[in-house]
Formats: sequence, C-alpha cells, structure tokens
Amino acid sequence: AKTVTYNFNVGWVTAAPDGFARPVQGINGQWPIPMIEANVGDRIVVHVVNNLGNQSTSLHFHGMYQQGTAGSDGSVGVTQCPIPPGSSYTYTFIANPPGTHWYHSHDRGQYPDGLRGIMIVHDPVWEATLGVTEQIPLVFSDWYHEQMPIMLQSYLAEENVNGIFPTPVALLVNESSKPPEFNFKPGRKYLLRMVNVGAVATQSFTIQDHTMTVVGIDGIEVKPVVTSSISLNVGQRYTVIVQSKLNPLSSFRYAVKMSPDMFTGPAPASLQLTVQGVVKYVSKLLGLILDLIGSLLDTSTLSPSTTLDDFALVPRDGERLLTPVARTIHLFINQQNFPDIGSRIQLGDQPYVESEYPSLFTALTTGATAADPVTYGPGIVPFIVQYNDVIQINLTNPQPFPHPMHLHGHSFQVVARGPGLWDGGDADFPPVPMKRDVASVPAGGFVVLRFRADNPGVWLFHCHIEWHLASGMAVTFVEAPGELQRGQVVGPAGLALCAGNAEPKSKP
Ligand code: C2O
Ligand code: CU
Repeated sequence: AKTVTYNFNVGWVTAAPDGFARPVQGINGQWPIPMIEANVGDRIVVHVVNNLGNQSTSLHFHGMYQQGTAGSDGSVGVTQCPIPPGSSYTYTFIANPPGTHWYHSHDRGQYPDGLRGIMIVHDPVWEATLGVTEQIPLVFSDWYHEQMPIMLQSYLAEENVNGIFPTPVALLVNESSKPPEFNFKPGRKYLLRMVNVGAVATQSFTIQDHTMTVVGIDGIEVKPVVTSSISLNVGQRYTVIVQSKLNPLSSFRYAVKMSPDMFTGPAPASLQLTVQGVVKYVSKLLGLILDLIGSLLDTSTLSPSTTLDDFALVPRDGERLLTPVARTIHLFINQQNFPDIGSRIQLGDQPYVESEYPSLFTALTTGATAADPVTYGPGIVPFIVQYNDVIQINLTNPQPFPHPMHLHGHSFQVVARGPGLWDGGDADFPPVPMKRDVASVPAGGFVVLRFRADNPGVWLFHCHIEWHLASGMAVTFVEAPGELQRGQVVGPAGLALCAGNAEPKSKP
C-alpha cells in the first residue's frame, strides 16, 4: 500500500455549467473539483487550506469507514470544528472500502455550491476479473443558480412554516448541462462509475439498446445483476459494466432523468428533467456516416423506465444477516412547525442542532458515561451504542416522499423495506441482505437497517437531502465510547478552530 497525498486549496471560482455564470467553490482554482483516486488499503492524506475568505468549510469522504480515524470524517459539529477562512486541516485515513465514492463539504449545507466530487477506491484484484478496458466516471447532480447561504436563510426562516425549499434549475452530468459523449469501441466492456452528488433529486440512467450489469453499489461489490435502467438517490453510487456491440449500425443515446418526487414546489418551465448524451462508436468502416443515419432515423424520446430494485443486489462476499440484535432503535420522521423557528424535520426526539463543540471531542473526554443530553449540548441527544453490538434501526416515514438515509462510518444491511409500519421479525429478513451506505425509506413506509458497532467513533445518521439535513433530520451514534477512551481514534486536530466561527456569507 502507498500513501496518496492531495493538497487542496479551497476557493471561489466562476463557472457556468449550464450557461449561467456564478461563483462556485473550487479546488486549486478549478471546478469541477479533482477526482480522488487510490487503491484499497492505501493511506490517503488530504491537506485542506480554506481560501474561501467568507465561509468555513470541511471535507467528508462519503463511504469511507474511517476505522480508527473518526477525526478525519469531516462532519462539522460531530467529528471536527469547521475550518475557518485562512486555516487548514489535514485528513488522514485508509482507503476502505473499495468502490465508487465521493467527497463533499459537510459544513452547513455547503456542498451544493460546488464542493463535491467523485472519489474512486480501486480493488485491483477484483477489477482485473471484470475484463473492462476503460472506467468512465459519471457524476449526476441537480443545480441551483443562487448560493446556499441565502437560500438556507429563507428555508430555515420562521415564516417558512411548511418547509418549502427552492426547486433546482438544472440537471448536470459531470458538472455540465451538456452530457459527455461516450466513445465506445466494438466488443469491449466499459465500467461506468456513477454517483449522485446532488442536493435533492433522485437521478435515473439508461442507455439505448444496451444493458448494464451492476457489480457494485456504494462501497459493496455485488453479485452481477443485469438491468436496463437504474436509479440513484442522492449520495448513492452504482458501478456497472456495459458491454459494447460487436457490429454497431449507428450511434446510440443515453438518458439521465431527474425525479421531481422530492420537490416541495413546482419545477420551473425551463427545467429539463431529462437530458441525453451520445454513445458514439469508433468503428473503422462505418463511422460518421452511420452516426448521421442513426441520428436522422431515431427521433424517439429515450427515458429510463422501470428501475432495478436494490434489494436484488446482494454482496459478493455473501455476508449473512447480522445477529443477534443487541438493541433496536425506533426512529420516526416528523416534520412540524415550531413557534419562532419555522418548519423542522426530526428523526429522534427533537430536530438535530449542529453542536459548536464536536461530539467526538465530548465522547473522547467524557467516555462511556457521557449518555446524558446535557453533556453533548442542546439539540444533541446521541444514541450510545456499545462495542460490537448489532444495532437495528427501524425507521418509519409517514411523509409523501422518500428520503435517502446515510450512515457515516459503516455500510448497513438493509433487511426490510415496505409500506406502512414494520411489524415482522428475524424470520422475515433475507439470509444475505443487501448492503450499502445510503438507503431510501419509501414514502408512507419503513426501512429496517442493521449494522455492527465495530467502529469506535461518533457517526452521523441523516437524510442526504441537504435541505433536510440543515433542518435537523439527523441523529448521532456515539459508538463504543469505552474503546474511544483507550485511544483507538486519532483525535481531531485544532480544537481552537471552533472559536470565532463566523456565519457564512454568500460570495458577492
Ligand atoms: Cu455524503 Cu453525511 O454525508
Ligand atoms: Cu429527507
């Protein structure tokens, strides 16, 4: 294993991904921000310098287990203080698990302003067995023209009694409203690495007249399943093999479709919910002529249809249902209007409020006895879970739209999902459950998750719709506090950073 080092200078740049120029948060003067790439087991070191000038920041490496390195998880208020303008922070962790991942700011609803990018952790041994000639990153996102601090201010205002948030104005593929062209050679296999880095919307993907073989979801290698179309909630990743045609008679198209299911208001007429890209065949004989004929003949609208149910995607390693359950935690999604505050969404007893003093610091200094709310601060009532226990989360969603739920520091088993309330038992669960790190809880339904508390740290469990997280749709798990005390976690650097953390302002 090697050490892979990145020096990231976070600062404002101007970009016009859909033709509208606006300030975005870039890295080293570039946007889209660079891809992070390593092999499983490598040590990744990311030196971050915050040159935004007007906002604090952080980086979260979504999907990384951060075993023994909770202080590098990047979640502000949980594992670190925000990095103030002019300061720096170094993240150090082992690249694990392998898969298609991403990294993004985890500081007060910041990442939709651009600080999000793809991260690939290769498993070279496994990839060699796939027989692919090329790996193609595909980053999907919704997009806004206004900046998050302004939009968050009105979203979280007292007057917003129904929790209405702005509707995105564009769909981006690889951070552009013009999707990239694929150049396929006949008779090859391509590995598409897809991630939804958006703020709200689920995205679906299909390729005309080609099937996909799913081999990975989030950080889990899965037994191959063939499908024509897939859909990704915010935060989810799919790794799929596309077999190109032996004798293509034309070029083809692919389509990406944004779902308006989670929107709280009408989509603007200018918003294109479906965008299309071209799959071009680089064949010696027919080339351009066939492309032309193909595009003239084919005027149909391509759109992803029935999508694959992720329950069909089971881990390649055959990991069995975790038992016995030491503790079941019941969470109920509740959105309500609070006097003087406005609408908030909660998962636990109250809406989560970001702590000024990171909970990891509290857990490190107070240890196993730190179970009471007073210790962690107002709005922060963590679940304390003991080392190696199997934890079950029963999450109920009475709302008319789904939520993509993400747990830091783990991949969980998704053991049940359906309408209404869960009332079954172990016998109803699959012997080898689907496993990933973002799972959707359906509208008017439930999802049941299991994970083993084998990773001492403090981990956030939250909805990955950025508006909902800002609203308080999160809880924390203080995992194995006794083990934390025994020094298994590399503590977060720079406690003093929490001082003088100013309110974020938009870039003029
Ligand atoms: Cu993609 Cu809490 O993270
Ligand atoms: Cu949500």
